[in-house]
Amino acid sequence: MRYAWLTDIHFEFLHDQEAIRFVEELATQKLDGLFLTGDISIASRLKFHLKLFENILEKPVYFILGNHDYYGGTIGAVRKSTEELCNRSNWLYWLPAIGVVELSQDSCLVGNGGWADGRFGDYEGSRIMLNDYLKIQNFVRAGDVGRLALLNSLGDQAAKYFQTVLRDALAKYEHVFVLTHVPPFKEACWHEGAIADDNWLPHFSCKAIGNVLKNSMANHPHRQMTVLCGHTHSSGRAEILPNLLVKTGGAEYGSPVIQEIIE
Ligand SMILES: [Fe+2]
Ligand SMILES: [Fe+2]
Repeated sequence: MRYAWLTDIHFEFLHDQEAIRFVEELATQKLDGLFLTGDISIASRLKFHLKLFENILEKPVYFILGNHDYYGGTIGAVRKSTEELCNRSNWLYWLPAIGVVELSQDSCLVGNGGWADGRFGDYEGSRIMLNDYLKIQNFVRAGDVGRLALLNSLGDQAAKYFQTVLRDALAKYEHVFVLTHVPPFKEACWHEGAIADDNWLPHFSCKAIGNVLKNSMANHPHRQMTVLCGHTHSSGRAEILPNLLVKTGGAEYGSPVIQEIIE
């Protein structure tokens, strides 16, 4: 097994030719497929960019969506069109729609983009105004008053998904790989080379998912979990439990890279 993990590739900042060349270069590498942990594009360009992988790479692409993938759209519409695209595709797999994916006899993959749920750090005191709140229709509608409730509910929805899917994954597989966009622990919330402060944490971490992952692994001490995430564009690793490791990927707008080869 040999998968390339990429995160926050933000193809919306590349010219089409640059994005095509990047995928062509990936296609020359000896890989079984890709893991993409979100912020692939923006709503209006997502389908075009995913199809580059479909048409050029011709290998399985297991992915989840990040907050940027919804920019200019609504959460429901982007998810629906992504699911429809994957249903018609030979190579694209949107993880929240398919549950547990077997990678080898003893390892599997699950994923859900999740959402920063506003629960770590100091939401009320935070002065951060993410573009999410201006560019995703659900947040525009929610406004200042409804924002925290929406953040909470998006985090809870994803946590509930993991609760169910991990039950099946951990019953059968020794090593579970988890793809999510937003770091699920404060310790994994790297920002500019350090742990994010209380101002950024509410917008950069998903406590609800973290709770589910940590409880699941505490209850399965003989299983192993590796979480791959992004969103903060600053890389680091955090060992939450002896059997729970979180890798956060770094990124720079306009310069997509492979984070790591997962073997
Ligand atoms: Fe990003
Ligand atoms: Fe993001």
